[in-house]
Amino acid sequence: MEAFSFYNPTKILFGKKQIAGLGIQMHRDGIKHCILIAGGGSIRNNGAYQQVIESLDQAGIQHIEAWGVQANPRLDKTRQIIQQAKESGTEAVLAVGGGSVIDTAKAVAAGVYLKDIWNAFIRKETIKEALPLYTVLTISATGSEMNGNAVITNMETRQKWGISSTHIYPRLSIIDPSLQSTLTFRQTANGAMDAIAHILEFYFANEEALTTLAINEALLRTIVDMTDRLQKDAYDYTARANLALSATLALNGLSGMGLAGGDWGCHGIEHACSALHPEIAHGEGLGVIVPTWIEYLGEKYPSRFLRWAKAMWHEDSISSAICRFRDKLQSWGLASSLRDLGIKEGELNTLLDLIMQNPSLGGVFKLNKEEVRLLLMLAF
Ligand code: NZQ
Ligand code: ZN
Repeated sequence: MEAFSFYNPTKILFGKKQIAGLGIQMHRDGIKHCILIAGGGSIRNNGAYQQVIESLDQAGIQHIEAWGVQANPRLDKTRQIIQQAKESGTEAVLAVGGGSVIDTAKAVAAGVYLKDIWNAFIRKETIKEALPLYTVLTISATGSEMNGNAVITNMETRQKWGISSTHIYPRLSIIDPSLQSTLTFRQTANGAMDAIAHILEFYFANEEALTTLAINEALLRTIVDMTDRLQKDAYDYTARANLALSATLALNGLSGMGLAGGDWGCHGIEHACSALHPEIAHGEGLGVIVPTWIEYLGEKYPSRFLRWAKAMWHEDSISSAICRFRDKLQSWGLASSLRDLGIKEGELNTLLDLIMQNPSLGGVFKLNKEEVRLLLMLAF
């Protein structure tokens, strides 16, 4: 098992009606004013917005609002909200929504202290402090509610890059799974695929972290089973709750213990896809990349991948397990090729260049440009 450090300061309130505790916690933390950040309006339909406002009002916390964060969030919007936060002199940031809203909120929390937030993404400025951050999660996928990462796209350069800092962990995240019943099944499945990918980016990195591998297998099985249940009944609370918890644990530090920081090659590749085509949902993009990546690496490192084939799919060969994995994603209605995602053959070279620019491509398997080119062709 590789040496590791584990740090996670985020408090979680999990379950129905837990939003009531938001204002109480912020009041305890001495917060009197915050900026509420939201997306395109889903929080008005799922009940989160109304419950948040009630909780803030009851605790006497004033707020301003910044709406309109898009899926695959963008730098220009982030800069605009940073300006709004600075001008208002607000004391805290409150994200109500999915990973895109939470990531924007993290960049805002850090950005009020920087010359320009993009400098942190391109490693020209270091995040040394941030406003306190609170989140109310409405889609389980990214794990952003309990980690210190944020991913933002610069649409001018098509760089979808990330920051990682101990200063941008949320202080408190509320996970009320019942808010997620308004998701379409496609969105639910995209989120599930993202959580699966987070686990798999770690899973193959080390064969001796037996405890973590066993935890990860339990998480993977639970995610698949709960997603199957939600395909039949979007209001199955037990399935929503267990999927939500598994997705949070998939990227809060637990699933990576002793696994060398994981690889993240699939994420590097997917981020370039959704930077070029912002209409691609991150999870759905991963549903195309991850099986192809396993197909490619499985031949090179058979024993690591065989464990997954047996534990997850009860198969004795990697290729049969990949078929089962692809069949499952197809049964959920996800895309099965880059072409299905809307990527054109003529864009593959641009995609390759964008992927290779990213400094964090592949920590363990370190794919080179020719290997990534091959992988893209296999996935096309
Ligand atoms: O904008 P609204 O109206 O809120 O609609 C959203 C959005 O259209 C909708 N939605 C959210 N909750 C809903 C709902 N619709 C109905 N009912 C609800 N309860 O869902 C759509 C997608 O939301 P988004 O926040 O984009 O989804 P997700 O949580 O998957 O976030 C994806 C972003 O996070 C990044 C991805 O790259 C992508 O940009 N990631 C962040 C990570 C992190 N911070 O740790 C790690 C991940 O690997 C990932 O890269
Ligand atoms: Zn992801």
